[in-house]
Amino acid sequence: MKLILAPMEGVVDYKMRQLLTDIGGYDRCVTEFIRVSAQPVPKKVFLRLCPELEHGGRTQAGVPVYVQLLGGCPDLMAKSAVIGASSGALGIDLNFGCPAKTVNRRDGGSVLLQYPRRIESIVEAVRQSVDSAIPVCAKIRLGFDSADLLPEIVGRIAAAGANELCIHARTRLDGYKPPAHWQHISGIQRPEKMELIVNGEIWSSMDALEAQHQSACKSLMLGRGALARPDLARIIRSHLEAGDEQDWQSFSWPEVATWVERFFNQQDSGNHRYIGNRTKQWLGYLRKNYVGAEQLFHQIKKLKDRNEIATMIKRHRSQIEKMSSLSFAHSLDPTKSFEELSIHTYSKRSRKIVGIPSAA
Ligand SMILES: Cc1cc2nc3c(=O)[nH]c(=O)nc-3n(C[C@H](O)[C@H](O)[C@H](O)COP(=O)(O)O)c2cc1C
Repeated sequence: MKLILAPMEGVVDYKMRQLLTDIGGYDRCVTEFIRVSAQPVPKKVFLRLCPELEHGGRTQAGVPVYVQLLGGCPDLMAKSAVIGASSGALGIDLNFGCPAKTVNRRDGGSVLLQYPRRIESIVEAVRQSVDSAIPVCAKIRLGFDSADLLPEIVGRIAAAGANELCIHARTRLDGYKPPAHWQHISGIQRPEKMELIVNGEIWSSMDALEAQHQSACKSLMLGRGALARPDLARIIRSHLEAGDEQDWQSFSWPEVATWVERFFNQQDSGNHRYIGNRTKQWLGYLRKNYVGAEQLFHQIKKLKDRNEIATMIKRHRSQIEKMSSLSFAHSLDPTKSFEELSIHTYSKRSRKIVGIPSAA
C-alpha cells in the first residue's frame, strides 16, 4: 500500500508538505499544479513551487515530491516535463482533474476528460521525452459529467506508458460533493504496468478500508482528510498494515496544537499582509475533527499582528493542556456536551469506536 499526499493548490505547499511528512506515513507528495500555457515552464518556477528540488527532490523527512503539470499542449507539456526533470524532479505528475473554470477555459485540467485521445497524446509526449527512470503519473477524475469514458481514458493513459494513475472518484460535475464513487474504479480493466490509486473522501481509516475494498485499489491518495487529521496517514498505516506501527496513538488536540504553532512560526512569518492566513486556513480543516481547532480559529480569526497571534496560540495551548482527554473525546463525538463526557470511560470507548488501541 502506497499513501500519497494529494496536491492542493494554495494549501499543500512546501511548508505543509514538510510538516505532514515530518509527522509521517507518506510515501510521496505532489506539488500544487504548475500551469503550462504559452511556453515551457522555466526552471525558476519549478524551484519556487518545489523548493525540495534544491534538496534532492525530497522533503526534509526524505519523502519524494513529484512535480505536477497542467496544460493541453503535448509539446509544451513535454518540454516543461524535461525542464522539471532536469531541475531534479523525481517524477512528473499530469493533472487532468482540475475543475476550476479559469483553468478549464484555457484548455487544462478536467475539460480534457472529454477527449481521451488528447489525454493520451499528452501522456505519450511526456513519457517519450523524459528519461525512462523518471516515473510519469496522471491524475484524473471519473469523467467530465459521467464515468462513461473512464475505461477508455484509463486504457489510453496506460497505452501511453504512464507508470501510475490516480483517480479522484468523482466527475467534474460532482465537484467536491460527497460521496466519492470508489466503486466505479473496481470494474476497470487493470493495466499490467500501471498502478491505479484511489482518491476522494478518505477521512479515516474506516474510509481507507472501504475505498480500498470498493475500488479494488491498494494505494490511496489523501487530500482534505490529511489536513483535517494531520496523522491520518499514520493512523491508516497502523490499522491497515499489520505489524507496522501497531501502537500509533491518534494525536490529541494538544499535540496537534503544537504543530499548528510550529506551522504559524514557520509559514506565517513572511509577508505581513497575509500574517496568519495559512494558519487560519489550516484550522478551517482541523475544526472538522478537533473542537479545540474551532476555539483557536475564533480566538485568532480577527488578529492581524504576528505577536498577537503568536501569544494567543501560546495561551490557547496552555489552556487546553488540562483539557486534553476531554477535547479528544469530544472531537470524536461532538454531539455530546462536555458535561456528558466522562474522561475515563468515554475516551476508552471512543478509542474502540475508531479502532485505536486504548491506553493501558
Ligand atoms: C483547495 C484544493 C486545491 C486542489 N489543488 C489541486 C491541484 O493543484 N492538483 C490536483 O491534481 N488536484 C488538486 N486538488 C484535488 C485534490 O488533490 C483531491 O483530488 C481532492 O481534494 C479529492 O480528495 P479528498 O476528498 O481527499 O480531498 C485540490 C483540491 C482542493 C480542495
